[in-house]
This record gives sequence, structure tokens and C-alpha cells, in this order.
Amino acid sequence: MSLEQLLAWVPPGSPDERLAREINVEQLPSHVAVIMDGNGRWAAQRHLPRVEGHRAGIESVRDVVETSARLGIDVLTLYAFSIENWKRPRAEVNTLMLLLKRYIRLELKTLIDNNIQFHAIGRVEELAPDVRHELDLGIRQTERNTGMQFNIALNYGGRAEIVDAARRAMAAGIPPEALDERTFGGFLYTAGQPDPDLLIRTSGEMRVSNFLLWQIAYAEIWVTETLWPDFRRRHLLEAVLAYQKRDRRYGGIKPSPVALGAK
Ligand code: IPE
Ligand code: IPE
Ligand code: MG
Repeated sequence: MSLEQLLAWVPPGSPDERLAREINVEQLPSHVAVIMDGNGRWAAQRHLPRVEGHRAGIESVRDVVETSARLGIDVLTLYAFSIENWKRPRAEVNTLMLLLKRYIRLELKTLIDNNIQFHAIGRVEELAPDVRHELDLGIRQTERNTGMQFNIALNYGGRAEIVDAARRAMAAGIPPEALDERTFGGFLYTAGQPDPDLLIRTSGEMRVSNFLLWQIAYAEIWVTETLWPDFRRRHLLEAVLAYQKRDRRYGGIKPSPVALGAK
């Protein structure tokens, strides 16, 4: 996909079009990860039950997935349900699972049309059989797609992922001296994918809530006060533009033009 694909989809003359045209397509984040937060607050502001916030959040997911794919992002990871979210009331958890199943069923065609490869990351095997069934369908029907990889993080915990990776490395018989950061990364749920360059969190909270702890080592973090159900293409484009103004140093120093030219 490309900027043209995005522009073909954005209303001409809109603020979104102006934002899209400002983006440097040579400098896109390869992997964007999003902590979708604020559904409950969105509902509370409207005197609605929390689950209405989750329902409204589906529209944001649709918009962000298609925008990312059209823009040419390689990997998009959305945090949908953490291991800690089981602490919530049963009815809320059930609705979240129901919405997830419905999302996959209704969006499969859009995923296929946009050449998106769907993945689920987390302790997926602990989810209910009906949820796993829906996930498997989505994964199987998109496995040959070659465009954006879309990970949905479900029953996901960053620490659990690291523990699971350690267990897998041991089960694979990796000798301790052969285990380095690269090898270890190959046992994570995101094996083979680049680490997130850009981590977005909605609703203003300044924490990572156990998300991709290993992979976000050098991610650029962008937090917006916007609540997830209000998050749209425009906000994603704003985040990418902010990312493109960052100076990523990875612990080094910014090379000055003089140093760059020096022998
Ligand atoms: C994010 O919204 C959705 C999930 C964590 C599943 P919340 O439900 O956490 O909304 P707030 O943070 O209570 O507003
Ligand atoms: C993070 O949001 C988890 C997801 C977005 C799925 P939470 O609402 O669960 O995080 P905390 O509790 O505010 O840290
Ligand atoms: Mg929250």
C-alpha cells in the first residue's frame, strides 16, 4: 500500500488529506503498537454503561486498521485484552469477547480486501473455544496475505510473554551460552516482526500496563488525551507526524552534519 492508497480513501480537501500529505513515506514507523484505552470513560461521559464504550471503540479499530494498511505500515499491534483485564466484572468480559468475535466475523472481508495478515498474540490457548474458533478462522483466511501484519493482543501480558519465551527456549534445548537477545526475540509472540517504533496510548494515561515490555525498549511513545472511541485516522496521522519529528538516538549521540561528513 502507499500514500496514494490512503489519499484515494480520504475526502479531498479535508484536514486528514492535509495531514496525510505532510507524512514522509520514506520514514514511516515499521511497527505501530496501540494501547486502546478510555472506553469506560467515554461511556461514563455519556451516562452509558461501560460496554457501550467498547462497542463504540470498534469503529476506531476499523478506521485505524484500514488507515495503517493503506499508509504502508508493516505491523500494527492493538492491545485489546490484558491478562489483568480478567479482574473486571464477568458481564463486561463477556461483552468484550462477544464484540471481538463479531469484529472478526464482520471485518474479515475488509482484512482480505486490504491484503492484511491477521494474528493473535497472548495466551490465546486460555480463551474460550468459541473465541479461539473465530480467531483461527481469521488467521487461516488471511495467512496467505502479504500486506500489513495485524496483531491483536488478547489475554496478553508482557511479563507472561517473556516467561513463555523463556520456557520455549528451554523446551527447544537452547544452550544458555547460545541465548542472546536476537535468539530470545525469536521465541516471543512477535517472532520475525520488527519491534514497535511508535507506541500510542489513548486517554492520557502515562503507563505501559504490561504491554510488549521486551519489544518497546526503544519505541517512541505518543500519548493523547483522546479517548479510544473518539480516535480516528486523523489522530493516527498526527501520531505518525509527531514520530517523524523525533530524534531517535538509541543511546548514542545525534550525529552532527560535520561528523557525518568527517573521515
Ligand atoms: C480500554 O478501555 C479497553 C480495555 C481495556 C479492554 P477501558 O475499559 O480500560 O476504559 P477506561 O480506562 O476505564 O476508561
Ligand atoms: C490497558 O488498559 C489494557 C488494554 C488496553 C487492553 P487498562 O485500562 O487495562 O490499563 P490500566 O488498568 O489503566 O493500567
Ligand atoms: Mg483503561
